[in-house]
Amino acid sequence: MMSDSISIAVVGSGYVGLVAAVCFAEMGHTVICVDNDERKVAALQGGDTLIHENHLPELLNRYRNGRVRFTTDLAVATRECAAIFIAVGTPQSETGDADLSYVEAVASEIARSIDGYKVIVEKSTVPVYTNEWIRRVVERNGVSRDMFDVVSNPEFLREGSAVGDFLHPDRIVVGADSERAGKVLQSVYAPLTDGSYYARTGAITGVCDATAPPPLLLTSTKSAEIIKHASNAFLALKISFINAVSNLCEAADANVEQVAEGIGLDSRIGPRFLRPGIGYGGSCFPKDVAAFRSVAEQMGVDFSLLTEVEKINVQQKKRFLNKVRSALWTLRGKRLAVLGLAFKGETDDIRESPAIDLVQMFLTEGCSIVAFDPAAMDRAKDELPPSPAMRYAADAYTAASEADALLILTDWKEFAELDLGKLNEAMRYPIVIDGRNLYDPQTMQEHGFTYLSVGRPSATPVREAVAV
Ligand code: UGA
Repeated sequence: MMSDSISIAVVGSGYVGLVAAVCFAEMGHTVICVDNDERKVAALQGGDTLIHENHLPELLNRYRNGRVRFTTDLAVATRECAAIFIAVGTPQSETGDADLSYVEAVASEIARSIDGYKVIVEKSTVPVYTNEWIRRVVERNGVSRDMFDVVSNPEFLREGSAVGDFLHPDRIVVGADSERAGKVLQSVYAPLTDGSYYARTGAITGVCDATAPPPLLLTSTKSAEIIKHASNAFLALKISFINAVSNLCEAADANVEQVAEGIGLDSRIGPRFLRPGIGYGGSCFPKDVAAFRSVAEQMGVDFSLLTEVEKINVQQKKRFLNKVRSALWTLRGKRLAVLGLAFKGETDDIRESPAIDLVQMFLTEGCSIVAFDPAAMDRAKDELPPSPAMRYAADAYTAASEADALLILTDWKEFAELDLGKLNEAMRYPIVIDGRNLYDPQTMQEHGFTYLSVGRPSATPVREAVAV
């Protein structure tokens, strides 16, 4: 089965925009990706993805300057394309609301170039009613109602597995108030929903296949907007919930991993997003929980549950700091090895990273840090400039050398596979405080470590236990 190729413009070449652009090309469409940053456009034309993401370099190289063109010219892209996806940033404003000025600017510019029926698709994460505002902005610029529709098509990809998530989604949500616009979006996603993409040789493999393609859910625009915010808020809630349970496990000397497995096996709860740690971070959850709470407030709805979710998330970092204090007694002058600066593993993104916040807290306490992250060190240096108290190492063992304790702050896969003998030898004191539960306490104990993690009983080396 061959689906029709559609001409698509994607405005914004950040995580969502760039991934959407190359994935639409991979699905067989022709794409113009627009960004107003000339240097970014030049880099992308030259094959530099600018972000660390699986599959992205290969797809960019396959399609750049061919099925995907990069440009700063939104007017030309609007005229040439049938569907225009807006994927620009919606940063958090001082009040917690999403700042929609970039979305508005793009909508006005699109309006000035419309010369035939277009579907304007909102892919950035936005509060409910944004579609209506886009429609009003376009109309105010003199475009008649029959020349365009505005559709909400939220994106659910995770950084680190963005391409796989895009091409193998759990669901595709299309919020369209007109049948005509809904049909255009159904055609855009047809290669996924009819399974033809998965049957192709060389298709990126994942959870979907030709016999089990993803469902496309058609909703109203407002429902689609709420689905996006509610999904992220619910996932954040799940994380804060398990973090609160992990605190209870620590107090009761229980094991949160066993508890998470026990509750996650209930199919109504599910096992995912029940990993306790040092709190959620990243460019989405903190911003989206705040924005969703703010939208509810503006509409007179009490959603203080979300305030609790945020509160637990902040406390989780403080608890980790206190855990380190409890292991080291005093912090001033202590030399800490830090593994991980990114907000989670497999990404170089440090936005709202709990690891960065914690390093800042330890520096304020008078500790000196030697940090290592496989991908995020360059970006981290802007937030944590190198100094005698803040140094960077080329690998985990160098970071650990002569350290009073080693802290694991990001769940990079390679941090779960360290040579424990070598690590122990490198450190001044073999104390590991693991904010991501990457190791089995008994294994750490057998390798001579004092090991503290989240929501699990701590372990002390066998000989120390005997001496006591
Ligand atoms: C999140 C959502 O998972 C995506 O579905 C959504 O599309 C995206 O936001 C967005 O709105 O753009 P992302 O921020 O890339 O994706 O990262 P996640 O994998 O969701 O992790 C977020 C944070 O939660 C990280 O700090 C991670 O370490 C933490 N986390 C995650 C936990 O502490 N425990 C868990 O069990 C899962």
